[in-house]
Amino acid sequence: MAENIVVSSTASKEERYSEVLPQLEALIKTETDLIANLANIAAVLKYTMQFFWVGFYINREGELVLGPFQGPVACTRIPFDKGVCGAAFTNSETIIVADVEQFPGHIACSSDSKSEIVVPVFKDDSVIMVLDVDSDQIAAFDQVDKIYLEKLAAVITANL
Ligand code: SME
Repeated sequence: MAENIVVSSTASKEERYSEVLPQLEALIKTETDLIANLANIAAVLKYTMQFFWVGFYINREGELVLGPFQGPVACTRIPFDKGVCGAAFTNSETIIVADVEQFPGHIACSSDSKSEIVVPVFKDDSVIMVLDVDSDQIAAFDQVDKIYLEKLAAVITANL
């Protein structure tokens, strides 16, 4: 159950990811509803990893539409050719942005967001949604985030 998710607050980022990932996998395995699972994933990541904003943009009929998230109110629709989310979707690859002001076309849902990572989630080799994480610190994301958030994306795919 969600309330039993335990992650050491003093652990390193990598240790926290490696503690939280199997617990997330176990949590979503018991539920078949995608939106319910995405909602719990966003909540768990927000409170275990202390992300500023974390959520999903889902491919719905030609654009990315806001899905379950935790954090400040966000933009609801992102065209495929706009923003970091659109770029990750279109290129089918994870994008790490150390300074959002330096990313051409970045969409500023919150002026407090300073850096970002966007990870595609695949179904049958197509991107069906992206996982977007924002930080209020510059250069908050690195290869550790990429490795573990891509593992999480694979867990979501396996549970579809
Ligand atoms: N910054 C994103 C938009 C989504 S918000 O960060 C929640 C982008 O450029 O695609």
